[in-house]
Amino acid sequence: MGVSRRGFIGILGAAAAAPRLFAKAPSDYDPNLTVLLSDLHVNGTSDSHQLGRLERAVGEVLALNPLPARAVVFGDIACMYGRKEDYLRAATALKRLEDAGIPVTLGVGNHDRRSMFLEAHPDYATRTKVPGRIVTVCDAGTVDFLMLDGLQGTDDRAWNDMGPLAGLLDKAQQDWLLAALPAWKKPVFVCSHYPVGDLSVGGQPLSRLLARVPAVVGYIHGHDHRWYTRDMGMGWKKTGAKRTLCLPSTGAWGDIGYALMRTSKGRAVASLVQREFYYPRPPKPGMPVQHLWDAIVKANQNQTCAFAMPEKI
Ligand SMILES: [Fe+2]
Repeated sequence: MGVSRRGFIGILGAAAAAPRLFAKAPSDYDPNLTVLLSDLHVNGTSDSHQLGRLERAVGEVLALNPLPARAVVFGDIACMYGRKEDYLRAATALKRLEDAGIPVTLGVGNHDRRSMFLEAHPDYATRTKVPGRIVTVCDAGTVDFLMLDGLQGTDDRAWNDMGPLAGLLDKAQQDWLLAALPAWKKPVFVCSHYPVGDLSVGGQPLSRLLARVPAVVGYIHGHDHRWYTRDMGMGWKKTGAKRTLCLPSTGAWGDIGYALMRTSKGRAVASLVQREFYYPRPPKPGMPVQHLWDAIVKANQNQTCAFAMPEKI
């Protein structure tokens, strides 16, 4: 899973040889459009509502014209405990994107388990920027998406253990980030599964590093299963343009949907595509809270989150 930009072009180049799978022309893709998916929570051994919603989202993305040039997944791929079957089933659903020439970059969340993730996606063991973690860079042309790995749960935890809820960057990842991020040469969204407040680097909140590095456009995460945006905590007299964005879940609970990110030289705008709201699971006919859930979906229609691109790096 995961195809580099060069590999993506190669796939397009192979279109003539494989007309059924790769019949699309480069003009069918918007190079500045990225689909953002989070909190898939796919159950690998039953036909869960989560899987059905993920498949619906994938189908909607494939019907877009133009198509997004790539997809980024913000963790919690597995349903609860990080079973290998969960990753395989999620990969099957996401493969429809890859088969259509839309490479998928995956990140991990608190419900994931690295060993099982890597059995399903062994290429990430060498693709990662930090050995032992799942840290990847998705080249989106005008911007990068840098996906961090804040998963605290260890691979040897019991199968009924969901692991710690909050995120944490290990020392090696902190050291790598402190060295690499200030030297970043193009606009970059720093991403992880967790809210920015969970994470720290070098004894400081991660938000402080993000605020002072010119290349950082903003911070995007999942975990809360709700669409919301915040200013990064910069103090009363230091309010800046950098924002954080929380993504909906593709199908577990909460805001149900995904986001489409359009980037340009001056700015980046994420647009919410929300179909449902439910908690903790899809509604049954006549449920008394249905009117509230419908109101949430209605209120969230046409929501966007704009980010200012750095003027100079
Ligand atoms: Fe989740």
